[in-house]
Amino acid sequence: TFVVGEDCIKCKHTDCVEVCPVDCFYEGPNFLVIHPDECIDCALCEPECPVDAIFSEDELPADQTEFMELNAELADIWPNITEKKDPPPDAEDWAGKPDKLQFLER
Ligand code: SF4
Ligand code: F3S
Repeated sequence: TFVVGEDCIKCKHTDCVEVCPVDCFYEGPNFLVIHPDECIDCALCEPECPVDAIFSEDELPADQTEFMELNAELADIWPNITEKKDPPPDAEDWAGKPDKLQFLER
């Protein structure tokens, strides 16, 4: 499965949702997640993210392993998203910033 990692938090560009053939992205206030049981590993979303926030679970950085559980947990709670929308106005300011998990809104 593919996993949305920390770099998505407060960036949320949503380009990823447009290419997913099985529509398995789910949207929270400032972060998106992939439903691990629905993702078919097509890899189409990975290059679409402007901040490189999406990883194959095999390539998820060691310091982001908790995002696997987080994607699974939140995908069950949050609503589905299939159409791109504008990112937050300050998305550029947050691109690549470390330690953003503390800002995750549920
Ligand atoms: Fe969707 Fe493919 Fe990305 Fe999985 S890898 S979330 S199926 S676009
Ligand atoms: Fe997030 Fe990148 Fe998609 S910032 S919403 S994973 S395009």
